[in-house]
Amino acid sequence: MRTRLRKWSLWLGAAAFLTLPLASWAQLSTFDIETRIGAESHVGNITGHAKDAKADYRRYCVGCHGVLGDGNGENFPWVDPKPRDFQLGVFKCRSTPTGTLPTDEDLFDTIARGMDRSNMPQWSTFTKQERADLVAWVKHFSPRWANEKPGAPITIPPEPEVTPERIKAGRDVFARVQCWKCHGVQGMANGPSAATLTDDQGRPIQPFNFTEGARPKCGDTDRDLYRIFMTGLDGTPMPSFADNIKPDEAWDLVFYLRTFMRQHSKEKELAKQLGLKPVDPNAPAPAASGQQ
Ligand code: HEC
Ligand code: HEC
Repeated sequence: MRTRLRKWSLWLGAAAFLTLPLASWAQLSTFDIETRIGAESHVGNITGHAKDAKADYRRYCVGCHGVLGDGNGENFPWVDPKPRDFQLGVFKCRSTPTGTLPTDEDLFDTIARGMDRSNMPQWSTFTKQERADLVAWVKHFSPRWANEKPGAPITIPPEPEVTPERIKAGRDVFARVQCWKCHGVQGMANGPSAATLTDDQGRPIQPFNFTEGARPKCGDTDRDLYRIFMTGLDGTPMPSFADNIKPDEAWDLVFYLRTFMRQHSKEKELAKQLGLKPVDPNAPAPAASGQQ
């Protein structure tokens, strides 16, 4: 009796073990994906057609992103961070609020820009039409686009003039919303939480190190930096701060981030003249500014 019970529980254990990974994988079938082959993209006055990108995808993208778009191409084991699983419809580089789909233009820009510090190459050789077709192709892997519209892009006010006051105010924002917990007080990716971070797939992930001269994945203009922390990188611990940072403060923060970066900038120069010190993690958090 006892041995039989034990055998049963062994069986149950094995069954749970076998079904769990299957259930969480939730693969879409080729058939399901094929139903969306009519997917389109619209970038400016160009209309992209998924079906026209099939050959380019097979030739240039499949080795990483996989036949089913699940990121499971033959290079999967060797690539870190892992290629994006397009079936999930979750993207890092967006102009749209966290949790929403990116615009076609966002994907169009990402393909041309590539993603620094990853194996995702820059694709500057495609024509705009080919790139728009690839955007439609990327979209056809996920049922999300059939049911949802992309989010409305966030509004970015015109960039103000850099001043010493703004850089100091940016440091206060950096302290108040605790960017340093992950990025470190000097932007060196060594904050107290840095070592413990994982992405939505449970894979370890590093915060961005501002001091190494690398480009942020989602662009390196001032507007790109603004967009990055106001929309977040979905699927990663890098959150959106849209609810905690006012537009004017966001520009102050962009200027402060520049002071960490290796590249020469007016901000870096001003910080040096000011003798600006890093934030003190033990000091009481500065209050939010009253300006709108
Ligand atoms: C050598 C491997 C490799 C190839 C080839 C490749 N990619 Fe990627 N791609 C990646 C990796 C890795 C990521 C994820 C990078 C990250 O998360 O930092 C990615 C991410 C993406 C993303 C998601 C961007 C976001 O905002 O999250 C898109 C879209 C994309 N790739 C499109 C393409 C297209 C289209 C092609 C073919 C023209 C292609 N990729 C070819 C490795 C590759
Ligand atoms: C909970 C941890 C965490 C906090 C808090 C955090 N970040 Fe990040 N941040 C990350 C991680 C992780 C990445 C890397 C994401 C990736 O490479 O996919 C990142 C990436 C970035 C990048 C580079 C994005 C790119 O395109 O490569 C910038 C810029 C950035 N963070 C700014 C900020 C600012 C500014 C704040 C505060 C307003 C902040 N972060 C708060 C974890 C965090």
